[in-house]
Amino acid sequence: MIKVDISNVWGQLSLPDLLAIEKEIAAAHATLADGTGDGNDFLGWLKLPVAKETPEMLRIRAAAEHIRQNSDVFVVVGIGGSYLGPRAAIELMQGCNHNIGKGKGNPQIFFAGNGLSTRAWNELMRLLEGKDFSLAVISKSGTTTEPAIAFRGLKWMLERKYGTDGAKKRIYAITDPCKGALRQMATEEGWETFVIPPDAGGRYSVLTAVGLLPMAVAGIDIRKVMAGAYEAKETYDNLRSLENPVWLYTGIRNLLYRSGKCIEILESFEPGFKMMGGWWQQLFGESEGKDGKGIFPVTAEFTADLHSLGQMIQQGERNIFETMIRFDAPQQKMTVGSDAKNLDGLNYLAGKTLDFVDEKAYLGTLAAHVDGGVPVITMDMGELNDEKLGEMFYFFELCCGVSAYILGVNPFNQPGVEFYKRNMFQLLGKPGYEV
Ligand code: PA5
Repeated sequence: MIKVDISNVWGQLSLPDLLAIEKEIAAAHATLADGTGDGNDFLGWLKLPVAKETPEMLRIRAAAEHIRQNSDVFVVVGIGGSYLGPRAAIELMQGCNHNIGKGKGNPQIFFAGNGLSTRAWNELMRLLEGKDFSLAVISKSGTTTEPAIAFRGLKWMLERKYGTDGAKKRIYAITDPCKGALRQMATEEGWETFVIPPDAGGRYSVLTAVGLLPMAVAGIDIRKVMAGAYEAKETYDNLRSLENPVWLYTGIRNLLYRSGKCIEILESFEPGFKMMGGWWQQLFGESEGKDGKGIFPVTAEFTADLHSLGQMIQQGERNIFETMIRFDAPQQKMTVGSDAKNLDGLNYLAGKTLDFVDEKAYLGTLAAHVDGGVPVITMDMGELNDEKLGEMFYFFELCCGVSAYILGVNPFNQPGVEFYKRNMFQLLGKPGYEV
């Protein structure tokens, strides 16, 4: 079980505060579990973790193996909830530089269609030069502009390289089972498809093929990921008390919000966690930021960002709280060596492991920020492995659903996202959007 420690928020809150909100947490959790709240037609993600491998998962693993064998590169096209989860999973498990040295048998994985940058497109073109590649196009609606443009270009490249029939065997569409432009294209063209359940919103879809296919292509064991998510569901859905870390985390962050802490920074001391922070940021940002409410979610990488955001956290406006993520140290160690001249003055650390230094940096940061008036929730994740990945995804999704109901907003819509699209479509002259 993920351990949530709230001992470093007591300066700002008290036990009676927590006990007072317990009833609200219980009600919010029940609303979610019973399907009686706003957005209750988007609760399909609660059923995604399963104990046994499904036929869809078997097909995902078979497709992934095929892609691994016939591709130097696998391009994943999607944006928002159709992009962040798989990238977060791969970077957390394999590091930000996971593509280096990879090729056929264990392909590189690049992401496209998550923006409109011509530079990023040109870079992808250079990366694909002379490479065998396959792609997954991920879009629940099938009409999102950014991935649609990227997909059109990549499909054309595949057809030019492998012919129309050859290209068809290298395109995988992940979309709604029945409706939408992408479903229609896939049916007409005969691409292999995987399903985003209609009742699971984009940012809650990482445990479908959206996340699982790219993870499997990267060599992550999706059966273990699912086992971790299933275990999480069994544990966190059923424990209805403050012993449940979901309750503790959601209760405390809402109490802190009510006391004026309107920014939450999710921090990890692992550079590979950065995109996981991005996934979390979208999950909470799109779910909670509406009706003039919401905790602004920000993510930071420590110790790197202690040399940028650290000053603001320590002494800036006191409207933030932090959630610090810790994992067990890895088996393979690095030890600081001794140096005869000791010009850098580091000999006092000779013989100490990098983990030891990291641990002290964590403890020192924690104490400093708490002294500076910033409440800090800490989360001990334990060992980082495939099961933990699944557990973390389900844990945060559940936290988000419960927390948004405590806040009093619908966690499953995102009406605000349409505003930029409407303006963009007007400016682009999209039919139906004329001024
Ligand atoms: O969480 C969400 O619903 C959104 O972030 C979507 O995932 C994102 O807008 C992409 O939508 P689609 O999958 O329809 O292309």
